Order: sequence, then C-alpha cells, then structure tokens
Amino acid sequence: MTLPGDKSISHRLAILAALAEGPSELHNYSPAADCQSTLECLRRLGVGIQAEKPAGKARDQKESGRNSLSARIHGTGLGGWKKPGRALDAGNSGTTMRLLAGALAGQEFAAKLTGDASLRRRPMRRVVEPLEQMGARIRSREGGLAPLEITGTALHSTEYTLPVPSAQVKSAILLAALYAPGITAVIEPVRTRDHTEIALREFGAAIRRSGERIEVSGGARLQGRSLTVPGDLSSAVFLIAAALILPGSNLLLLNVGLNPTRGAVLDFLVQMGAPLRVAQIEERHGELVGNLEVITGEGLRLRGGEVAIADVPRMIDELPMLAALAPYTEQGILIRGAAELRVKESDRIAALSENLRRMGARVEEFPDGMRVAGRAEAAGAQPARHVPLHGAEVDPRGDHRIAMALAIAALGADGPTTLRGSECAAVSYPAFFSDLEALLER
Ligand code: S3P
Repeated sequence: MTLPGDKSISHRLAILAALAEGPSELHNYSPAADCQSTLECLRRLGVGIQAEKPAGKARDQKESGRNSLSARIHGTGLGGWKKPGRALDAGNSGTTMRLLAGALAGQEFAAKLTGDASLRRRPMRRVVEPLEQMGARIRSREGGLAPLEITGTALHSTEYTLPVPSAQVKSAILLAALYAPGITAVIEPVRTRDHTEIALREFGAAIRRSGERIEVSGGARLQGRSLTVPGDLSSAVFLIAAALILPGSNLLLLNVGLNPTRGAVLDFLVQMGAPLRVAQIEERHGELVGNLEVITGEGLRLRGGEVAIADVPRMIDELPMLAALAPYTEQGILIRGAAELRVKESDRIAALSENLRRMGARVEEFPDGMRVAGRAEAAGAQPARHVPLHGAEVDPRGDHRIAMALAIAALGADGPTTLRGSECAAVSYPAFFSDLEALLER
C-alpha cells in the first residue's frame, strides 16, 4: 500500500511554493483535511492553486489514488500575497496556524488567523513571542490563544533559543526570517523535525545548520519547484501496529518518509522485537524515503519498554499508537517527558487513559506521560494467550490520532468497539478506514 503524502512536509511545500516565484508542482500532496486548510488559506491570500487526484490506471487509483493529490501552486514571490477578504481558517491544524503566523508577520497587510474550537484552545504564545522579538505585531486572545490578528510590518533578524522543542515554532521563525534583512538564527537544544530546513534549501533559500544552530538569510528569492511528498510515516505507524497485533500479517508500505528526525518510533518498535524491515532507502529532494515491511508469524511477542525521554520529540505524534499498542506487549509501555501531548488536538494523555481503560487496559496517568500495562500484568494463568482488551464504546474527543490508535487497538480486542466521531481521522488520513478494510480483506 502507498500512504497519503506526509502531512508536515505537505504544509511546508505548499507555503514555500506560494512564496516562491513561478509555478510549483507538488506530487503526492496530502489529502489530509489539515493540508486542505493550508491550501484554502493560501488561496484566500491570492495564490492560484489547482489540486486534483492524479489520473492513473484503475488499479493504482483503487490502491493509492484516494491517498494522493497533485497540487499546482502559482507562487507569487515573497511580496505577492494579497490582503485576505476575511479571516483565514486553519481548521484543526496547528501547523497551518503557526507556520502562517510566521509567513504573515512580514507582509504589507493585516490578516486574522483562526481555527476550530480545539485549535483555539492550543498555546500560541510560543509562536507570538519569538515573532514579536523580530518586530511582528500580533494580537492574540487572553492567554495567548487564537484568533491571532497579525498586522504585517518590517521585521528585523534575531537570534532565538527554542524553550520548548517545537518544529512549528522553529518553522514560523524561519519563514518570518525570509522577510528580515540579515541573518536570523534559531537554536534548538533538542532536535525537532527538519522538513522546513530541507524544503527551504530545495526552494533556493540560504540556510545553514551547524550543531544546534540554524541560520537563514533574509531576502533570498525562492524558485518554484516540482517535488514529490514522501508517504506519511505518522500514518504508516497505525497500519504497522495493526500488523503487529494481528498474527500472520504481511504488510508492505511503499515510499514512506524516513527522515531521522521523525524515525524514533521505528527504532523503538524494533527494540521491542517488532519484525520490521526497511528497504530501498534513497534520498529524494533532501528527504529519505524507503519501503517498510512487517511480516508477523503466529507467536509474535512484543517486549514493551520505556520510551527514552530524549526520543520523545522525534516520535511525539506516534505516542498515541504506542500507548494503544502497549496492552499487546509483554511488559507494557512507559512514556514520560511528554507533557506536550496535553496540548495537541486533544489532551492526548487524558483521552488515551480514559478510552484505553474503557477497553480494559490498566493505565497509570502522569502529568507528563502514562504507563499502560502489558500482558504480563494481565489477569489469568496464561497471560500470553489472554486477550488484553475488550470492545467498548470509546470517544476519541475529535482527535484524529486518538481515533486511529483506538481503532487499531480494537482489532485485537474481544468484541466490537464503537468509535464516536470516527470521521475525525480525515484530519490526517481520510482513507484510513477504507485502507484498513482493504488490508484486512486480503
Ligand atoms: C509538526 C510538529 C509537531 C507535531 C505536529 C506537526 C510540524 O508539533 O506534533 O503534529 O509539522 O511541524 P510541535 O511543533 O508543536 O512539536
């Protein structure tokens, strides 16, 4: 199976293509609702965009067409965006709001960024503060919440050390830096995903990294490009977990993004004993891409374990799936140092704890993480044979990754599980349920 284009990369390529001069073609652009929010905001800023499903053979269409879009974006150059007629709606997408805040700070017009109820509860001060340090004028709601009213102004370069490891904050500063004469530096003591740096280089910006320090020169002219988005590793992880839960699985995922700043989950799964193979790794436009294969026999035993705190930022979006996989491991899984999970699309620690308990898991909740017990602690004389979860009615709280994690956990549970509001999976993976069904039918 091929996966939808990487959500993080899709946002970045769309924004940079819109700021570049001349047309860009983005292949395998993510069909995620979040990435459509970015395109919609860019359209409102006067950028010409055509996004369509690629033509192809019927069989390809069935297998991957629903996961893929081609986007043609007519870049306007750094000074070509127009004042939007009304508020820009980022929907559920934190990446859309935080990255566009950076790109809008240095424009010659004012714009308002808003989003859905979840996004309007999420912390925006972390992006407002560094942008203000560059001279930006941003009004937020009390508590540093969206909507953000950004009055474009002349920016100046700065040097900023990220207090929380956040690729979105880093990216907002790097985008604003394009409008600031001189060199802007971001220092990230903990490394986060570097898709923005890679994409900036692809579009022709002057960007350097040396250790923890990333420098961008303002004023560079970006050039339109033709690029292909790798498959989304964060979506792949749900299908990989399904294969690990269901004995006798044979799963091959093609062209998955394997950027090392995202890949910690794969290392953790292998450490637990997952029969996961990575093949045909190659670099495309600065990003690593490869195939992932999982073949499980009848008696697979996943060990479980402790997620290293230092690895958390490199697997933050995959922690919900790991937590929901934990009951199927021997020792369970411990996650600490992940307080950021509480300010994602939902409070993911609370949402997972409540729902996994409803399915019969033993969960201990911490302010910065959780421990989910494995088979060894399950009741019964033969823990290895014990079905660790039972079906239940669960409520993912409108959070796509919680919905998908619970759906996968439900595959191995005793009895049916009903997910309230399961359509929220479309936020990152619209074809999730149909892809899963197609895999289960084979
Ligand atoms: C993302 C960065 C991460 C991640 C989010 C996507 C990105 O958020 O959780 O899903 O595309 O840069 P933070 O920057 O808040 O850590």
